[in-house]
Amino acid sequence: MAKAAHGSFAEAGADLELVGIQKRFPGFTAIEHLDLTIPAGSFFALLGPSGCGKTTTLRLVAGLEDPTEGKILLGGTDVTALKPHKRPVNTVFQSYALFPHMTILENVAFGLRRRAIGDPVGKAHEALQLVELDHVADRKPAQLSGGQQQRVALARAVVNRPALLLLDEPLGALDLKLRRQMQFELKQIQQEVGLTFLHVTHDQEEAMTMADTVAVMNKGRIEQMGAPEELYELPKTVFVANFLGQSNLFTVDVDGGTDQVIHTVSPSGKISLPRRRSERDSGTITVGVRPEKLRLHQSAPAFDAAVNVIGPGRITDVSFIGVSTQYAVEVPGAGTVQVFAQNVEAGPAAKLGDEVWLSWFIEHTFGLADDHLETGAITADFSTQAIATQAGLAE
Ligand SMILES: Nc1ncnc2c1ncn2[C@@H]1O[C@H](COP(=O)(O)OP(=O)(O)OP(=O)(O)O)[C@@H](O)[C@H]1O
Ligand SMILES: [Mg+2]
Repeated sequence: MAKAAHGSFAEAGADLELVGIQKRFPGFTAIEHLDLTIPAGSFFALLGPSGCGKTTTLRLVAGLEDPTEGKILLGGTDVTALKPHKRPVNTVFQSYALFPHMTILENVAFGLRRRAIGDPVGKAHEALQLVELDHVADRKPAQLSGGQQQRVALARAVVNRPALLLLDEPLGALDLKLRRQMQFELKQIQQEVGLTFLHVTHDQEEAMTMADTVAVMNKGRIEQMGAPEELYELPKTVFVANFLGQSNLFTVDVDGGTDQVIHTVSPSGKISLPRRRSERDSGTITVGVRPEKLRLHQSAPAFDAAVNVIGPGRITDVSFIGVSTQYAVEVPGAGTVQVFAQNVEAGPAAKLGDEVWLSWFIEHTFGLADDHLETGAITADFSTQAIATQAGLAE
């Protein structure tokens, strides 16, 4: 193929495989054990809180760090021992460094010139049009805003048509509106050019809107991976249930069931869930439901075998968000339960201090894999401190 003549310049994306990757820094294990396959041409997001090992993972793929254990394959070829510039990979870093003395155009054309690719200026203009900055092609980086510089960094990476593009929080410096717009454009770019994108972010909305597949990372491990809808509708751990959107979690005791359904009891009422939606089926387990699945009732709802009911509780907070109203309901034995109600009627459905019952379809309940937690109300620990306890693992 003629393409091969361009060395690392690839026309299509490549599979990325991380096999048994571990990364230890002196006194700290940043990545425990990572197995990950990202199919060619996919838009893959690695989502996790600060310090969970996202940048470290990208640096390993880019060749800027060596794994302590494991190997990295690109398009089936082991690249673990390859120097960074030998890998068909481009990275847009969290802190993008443009060459200050070069014009924007030259910054973008630089990589093409270095590899003696034809028509660097034309291709650079094209890439700048993609990020809507062609009109500032003659300026120097210092004459652009932070957000504009970030878009230049994107253009500079995309212009190389790498087999794999690594994006480390590439939209972090942009304001919300531009961020949304760039999310959309990045996705368009990815679909147009068919490259493999590995996008790292701690913004769950960004990960869900852009990626085909999201891997939720926690303390150097992948907790759960799947399509955004799948992860959202069926989280498997407390961490995923709380990091990706919000969840109401209840500690309950399994009390029989059928082939299809698990019945449980708790101080706040009986909660049932589909067996296939539960990671555990005996003992004390943690179950959950998303706040928008809940309905508020001013009186105890009539029995319905398809529905879970808890209550009564009392509304302790009402926040009008616009598209929805968010209620906090204090339910004895269950703690604070969040309810998001769409504003389809004029005026609030319930008010502060009201006594209410809560119901939701059994079908919307999920059962988590975690060992049960003692308290009724469960909050996940996203702090970096918790991660630091890992330090003990690295000899
Ligand atoms: N060179 C290093 N030496 C020691 N520890 C390091 C080194 N580089 C990273 N770490 C630690 O490894 C952990 C993972 O870091 P990493 O930069 O991958 O996090 P991240 O997920 O990208 O976080 P953020 O969202 O804040 O960018 C952190 O606790 C960090 O302090
Ligand atoms: Mg980082």
